[in-house]
Amino acid sequence: MNLKKIAGFEAAKEVNDGDIVGLGTGSTTHYFTQKLGDRIKKEEIEIMGIPTSYQSFLQAMECNIPVTTLDEHDVDIAVDGADEIDKDLNLIKGKGGAHTLEKVVDYSAKIFIVIADETKLVENLGNFPVPLEVISKAVKPVFSALKDMGGEPSIRMAKYKNGPVISDNGNFIVDAKFGVVNNPIALEKDLNAIPGVVENGIFSQMTDKAIIGCENGINKINF
Ligand code: A5P
Repeated sequence: MNLKKIAGFEAAKEVNDGDIVGLGTGSTTHYFTQKLGDRIKKEEIEIMGIPTSYQSFLQAMECNIPVTTLDEHDVDIAVDGADEIDKDLNLIKGKGGAHTLEKVVDYSAKIFIVIADETKLVENLGNFPVPLEVISKAVKPVFSALKDMGGEPSIRMAKYKNGPVISDNGNFIVDAKFGVVNNPIALEKDLNAIPGVVENGIFSQMTDKAIIGCENGINKINF
């Protein structure tokens, strides 16, 4: 069973005719966007998407989903994946390096739904390192600040290019291991207070609903 597909397809039912939709990034939202494209074609609903990355922009084009921007429209509903989801629906995101624009779009949405397979559910965040988008010239002081906070930072290296991953915004991605995150709300704020950090991958207190693909069906959790 493809649990990401189950979650993505289910989330596409939450979109209403006329909605402006935040299009998340990653392999789970891939199915959401695909299903949204199908609905536009079959049901002739009129929606517009606001992509959160080059990946979701390109997929929107492929699926014939008209796109718009935050300058022109407010977001009615955003649907996005996650790397970890805790019991209060706090998230770690950014494995794909797209968390900055994801956060801007997801946080501005009237309704934010996270979708995932059940392997992403955790008691506490922290098994996964926290991704940070960092301007390249600030790496050294940012590393010092992260170490002072108990983190173990490393620059994310590219697989099909020499050197570091460069984000859609032209910055480095730093992954910082913190171990168990007891206070995601404070950590999200503290990380963004480090000069040179553009945005971090903790999404606290913003998720309205989780749609989780499970071996025994769909689990919907409202916050
Ligand atoms: C993109 O940077 C990430 O935030 C993804 O949304 C997140 O890693 C979930 O991706 P998958 O759905 O591919 O697991």
